[in-house]
Amino acid sequence: MDTLHLRRGGTSVVLDLSATPHPAMVHWGEELAGSTRDTLASLAIAAQPQRVSGGLDETPRLGLVATQAGGWLGSAGLEGHRAGTSTSARFEVAGVQANDHRATISLVDDEARLAAQVELRVGPSGLLRQRILVRNTGTTDYTVQSLQAVFPVPWDATELLDTTGRHLRERSPQRRAFTFGTHLRESRRGRPGADATLLLAAGRPGFGFEHGRVHGIHVAWSGNHRVIAERAVTGEAFLAGGELLLPGEAILEPGAAVQTPWVIGSWGDGLTELSSRFHAEWRARPHHPRRPRPITLNTWEAVYFDHTLPKLTALADAAAGVGVERFVLDDGWFTGRRDDTAGLGDWYVDESVWPEGLHPLIDHVRALGMEFGLWVEPEMINPDSDLARRHPDWILRGRMALPPPARQQQVLDLARPDAYEYISRRLHALLDEYPITYLKWDHNRDLADAGSGPQGVSRVHAHTLAVYRLLDELKMRHPGLEIESCASGGARVDLGILDRTDRVWTSDSLDPLERLTNQRYTGLVVPPEMMGMHLTSPVVHSSGRTVALGLSGAVALFGHFGIEWDLTSVGDATRDEIARWVALAKRLRPLVASGTVVHVDGTDPGVDVRGMVAADAASAVYTITQIETSVAYPAGRVRLPGLAPSRRYRMRVVPVGATGRDAAQSPLAWAHHETVLTGRELESVGIRPPVQFPQQATVIELIAEP
Ligand code: DGJ
Repeated sequence: MDTLHLRRGGTSVVLDLSATPHPAMVHWGEELAGSTRDTLASLAIAAQPQRVSGGLDETPRLGLVATQAGGWLGSAGLEGHRAGTSTSARFEVAGVQANDHRATISLVDDEARLAAQVELRVGPSGLLRQRILVRNTGTTDYTVQSLQAVFPVPWDATELLDTTGRHLRERSPQRRAFTFGTHLRESRRGRPGADATLLLAAGRPGFGFEHGRVHGIHVAWSGNHRVIAERAVTGEAFLAGGELLLPGEAILEPGAAVQTPWVIGSWGDGLTELSSRFHAEWRARPHHPRRPRPITLNTWEAVYFDHTLPKLTALADAAAGVGVERFVLDDGWFTGRRDDTAGLGDWYVDESVWPEGLHPLIDHVRALGMEFGLWVEPEMINPDSDLARRHPDWILRGRMALPPPARQQQVLDLARPDAYEYISRRLHALLDEYPITYLKWDHNRDLADAGSGPQGVSRVHAHTLAVYRLLDELKMRHPGLEIESCASGGARVDLGILDRTDRVWTSDSLDPLERLTNQRYTGLVVPPEMMGMHLTSPVVHSSGRTVALGLSGAVALFGHFGIEWDLTSVGDATRDEIARWVALAKRLRPLVASGTVVHVDGTDPGVDVRGMVAADAASAVYTITQIETSVAYPAGRVRLPGLAPSRRYRMRVVPVGATGRDAAQSPLAWAHHETVLTGRELESVGIRPPVQFPQQATVIELIAEP
């Protein structure tokens, strides 16, 4: 029995290379400490199914690239054909290159004239990355219809979690039973989309953040993708994912190859552990943004398209006054862009608004000690723009008529060298002319009928690669440039784009109550310091809800902190309170950028408890948010998990804004005394939360005794 054991960061992957017809993954998950060659061989034997009535003579097994010719009758790893013929594929192992945590398995099918390579890598924090390359070794074109990487999950993982959503409410969780059959999630919007699932997870029933074995996968790709969870009656359950290839996107000429993006799997006892593997691995990349995340003011909700120098310099003054470090000029600065109906594509500063260019504003911003950032939406074009009038053929479309408009705009065909060249030159020119250290890169519509022209080819795959190239080139030519991935808020959140950008705009909703869920589930994969979280103006623009600064501040604390508010309109007391939140965010940002995010599985739907625990567990900060009234009055105890069990922690309420309903209540005993508790006591027993009105939040800081 020929087995391969990859292990790292608490994860083991065991492959049975002699499984027929294809190598199979026998285990992915908990590190199998103590396993030996013998026991692993036995494990592989123990995974072999018996023959049963009514089935194939050899019960099929889920191989790394499972196909029908290999007996697999579920969702295939590879489907393809040669102009409708030669649909059969069945690979054999041609070679294996491996060390203790990575393997490349080469497969061939001489009859089908195909070769494949499966790469498996277990990262330092125990993430499993997988991607598959298929090459046409024949003499005629081979069309790949679908190609996906498979991740077997334990048979007792009987509950699924994924996310859906919409503009202003991305990454809403949904759960269902993982029953027999296939649960399919596809993204066909040319970007992941607001409704995309960031993670598809399967776990033991009732798994939460703190408990329950759970495995999940994410497709690190910013175009179309698909993920499935499938339970087969032959006794195998698995997750699988890859790019969703549009018709004709992968017609391989002789010698050509197509490769899936990285599909990344994580597991844990609870979602906190699963997520922390993603966070740790992302943070370990050499190009991860390491300098303290600059406190950002974004101008969008402060001025929208109403750009005037006096207003914006006043806003910059107010921003600097509360401690802002990066001032970002949002949409509305370029030619013809007086509203959202025109101008996209004309990336020249609008002289009617900015007769001296952006220099006066940028000089002012920099003189105040802040960096300057600029909004762009390079992939888009308004039919009402000089660019569209000059180059109507640069607009993506599959037929003569333009695709249905969205926000009055269309998409540029960046896979065309001339269109790419124009956009690239404009962006480089702006970055050369102005000291811009940050681009807010927006993408405000789904791609629909995205062809290269009438009777043309599908362009989503090529467009995605062109965007990656553009981002990479910008970063290379402008060292230190940071880029935010925004797409009507958080409609392009994935680890493909986040390997080339520095944060995501998590949602256009700044409503703190809505943000609690959005940020919790975006954080399943995205490290907190890469999620833009901003203070909102008191009346939330997207929901009409009136919220207190204390709530807005507490909810924005565990991310890349910023402000989205017309600060020229606030009074002295509010300005002082904003400055205190900014100061707190600055003090906590090293913790946010390196700590472990903890979500508490509470029983009280009225109370949200989440925290950030330092990597060495020497300190932690938690927020307790009263979402709605609790039935219990005062609310029952809450636990603060994630600390070092035997260390002793000194607790205090951080006096940053108004907390609790102090006036009407007797003092909260622990908050009015010097209170020291062990990590175990805090996790297992907990504390009484303060009595709060709905929509109030309290920040608690814990410091371990030396
Ligand atoms: C959508 C973004 O999410 C907003 O923050 C803002 O930048 C607008 N686009 C500008 O058009």
